[in-house]
Amino acid sequence: MSKPSLHDRLEGIASAAAVIATADANRLNQLRLELLGRKAGHLTEILRMLPDLAPDERRALGARANQLKQQLETAFDRRERELKELMTRSVQVDVTMPGRASWRGAQHPVTQVVDEICDIFREIGFTRIVGPEVETEEYNFTKLNIPLDHPAADAHDTFYVGSGILLRTHTSPMQARTLERYAPPVRVVVPGQAYRRDPFDPSHAPAFEQIEGLAVDEGISFADFKAAIDFFVKRFFSRDTTVRFRPSFFPFVEPGAEVDVQCQVCRGSGCSTCKRTGYLEIMGAGMVHPAVLEGCGLDAERYTGYAFGMGPHRIAMLRYAIPDIRLLFESDMRFLGQFVE
Ligand code: PHE
Repeated sequence: MSKPSLHDRLEGIASAAAVIATADANRLNQLRLELLGRKAGHLTEILRMLPDLAPDERRALGARANQLKQQLETAFDRRERELKELMTRSVQVDVTMPGRASWRGAQHPVTQVVDEICDIFREIGFTRIVGPEVETEEYNFTKLNIPLDHPAADAHDTFYVGSGILLRTHTSPMQARTLERYAPPVRVVVPGQAYRRDPFDPSHAPAFEQIEGLAVDEGISFADFKAAIDFFVKRFFSRDTTVRFRPSFFPFVEPGAEVDVQCQVCRGSGCSTCKRTGYLEIMGAGMVHPAVLEGCGLDAERYTGYAFGMGPHRIAMLRYAIPDIRLLFESDMRFLGQFVE
């Protein structure tokens, strides 16, 4: 291979010069030596050879070489200044300043509780579903065996949004919607918002979360109901937590019950949270009323089942000893930050 001509060597130097603009300090020194070094710099060598060339060649190559030398020097100087500036800028960072905490998202404690409850019921065969928050009187009341002249249907207790249309006062309408749509065996849990004209006080909110549960099949008894609730309570609270069933009335169950769990604050010995009773109510429940089953087209002689409705806000308060339900609505990060896992 023949030696590259002086002209080609000059152009080679010109293209090598392109990397100067992005070189770091080490590379910059290296390049300066390589190209302009007093002894062995590529360009220096060529410049040194110029006096021995024929006059024509000397003129042409000399002009190009000197121009290149100037360009390189400007590029080296500019990059050097840039690097120096970057250095002083990074020196201005005060490493003794406290760092900025990074923000990590988390779920609201009530959402966490809802998910956990649904997961526990999934273990015993319950599917999680949702339903409409705007309901008809028919599903919210009539199909649940609640006559429209029942106090629960009163305008004082319910947000009507139009004639016969309202914000559901509980998640129980999903009992009827589910039974009309799916043939038994049915096992569902239905989390969602419910609305009542309640004052916003330490233990009430006009919009609150509920979880409806429904199991309908052949041969389901009250014992199955008690076993399912007992399983849930022991899983959610602790293995030694006791449950209490008290007779109660809801038009859509027979018999009806209210379920209490052992107070988590005093473990049942009696304190101000449980009003000295040792127990706190967590849900309304009972065996699905035959009139509800029949109203959904099911043979009440063949099918039985149980239903329950619980309030995750209350359950979260119970578990974490939260004294005021409004804390769960105010989005105060000092409060919510305590539930980041
Ligand atoms: N829907 C009732 C309420 O909101 C609770 C309930 C659900 C009671 C299912 C019995 C069966 O208070």
